[in-house]
Amino acid sequence: SILRSVQSAVSRSITRRGYATEPVPERKVAILGAAGGIGQPLSLLMKLNPLVSTLSLYDIAGTPGVAADVSHINSRSQVTGYAGEDELGKALEGADVVIIPAGVPRKPGMTRDDLFNINAGIVKSLATAISKYCPHALVNMISNPVNSTVPIAAEVFKKAGTYDEKRLFGVTTLDVVRAKTFYAGKANVPVAEVNVPVIGGHAGVTILPLFSQASPQANLDDDVIKALTARTQDGGTEVVTAKAGKGSATLSMAYAGAIFADACLKGLNGVPDVVECSYVQSNLIAELPFFASKVRIGKNGVEEILGLGSLSDFEKQGLENLKSELKSSIEKGIKFASQ
Ligand code: NAI
Repeated sequence: SILRSVQSAVSRSITRRGYATEPVPERKVAILGAAGGIGQPLSLLMKLNPLVSTLSLYDIAGTPGVAADVSHINSRSQVTGYAGEDELGKALEGADVVIIPAGVPRKPGMTRDDLFNINAGIVKSLATAISKYCPHALVNMISNPVNSTVPIAAEVFKKAGTYDEKRLFGVTTLDVVRAKTFYAGKANVPVAEVNVPVIGGHAGVTILPLFSQASPQANLDDDVIKALTARTQDGGTEVVTAKAGKGSATLSMAYAGAIFADACLKGLNGVPDVVECSYVQSNLIAELPFFASKVRIGKNGVEEILGLGSLSDFEKQGLENLKSELKSSIEKGIKFASQ
């Protein structure tokens, strides 16, 4: 057993050395909607990510300015701005990760589903271009309603014959970010150590934080858990109301989008045990072909969809309550894409 522990120490040190001397792979990241409220700070954060070698900023207008600005930052990636549909192909060509924050955001009183009519068409056309120019990219869908835009993209890819369910992700990271922040405040634990899985979807009651699985554990009263759950579900609306007509979450969303894209890049680069919550094609819940849960991300995208773990009675009820809305949002997306 001494021999075995020496062997494993040696192999660990070789792995470590091997790791340190390996060059960081070239990775192209494209952001579609890069001149927008989310797109601009997200472009900044991705420019700061050392795993990115090429940063491609696309929007219908305004991207040359954003790209010129961000390109002066002395970090690794080369930045190019592309404006207008004629340049979309160049923006996408060779992309490893495509992040999509394109489309209109909510105004006070709107639900995410109210954005469907405009954003569904935008997502459909962007997904069509992805299937043509970078069919193997990992797609990070931010555009709302995520519960429907992810199924739309899946249908577009299926029609084009390029669909790989492992490569399409709805970005629900902001729900996790909010759950962590709000939990740390109530549990009085260091926020940097907090972990909270969030499952379901990305709108209202379909957002289901699992505080019973939160770490570090804290014995919070049921009414506190209820309030934390409601605040996580309404976090987006909290921002929409505070911005009073000037849009929805952009800065916290850019942070969350950057965290999720970084996880995708790490997964592609072979970093082990990269786990994030995401809204993906899933068979965890029979009647919901798309569902957010913890997923392990690797070289081919989704490597494993992790189980839900044990739920409290309150969470079990929450899961029942979200099914009909999530199901109809999925069906709405599929129906739109097949028109
Ligand atoms: P914004 O209006 O500030 O920016 C959207 C950008 O998309 C604009 O620059 C616009 O020119 C661009 N755009 C429109 N059509 C396009 C097309 N066909 N191709 C490329 N770009 C196009 O909106 P904001 O605040 O950045 O929000 C963007 C989206 O993200 C919204 O749908 C919003 O609901 C969603 N969102 C998602 C969150 C999530 O957790 N997944 C959180 C917050 C917002």
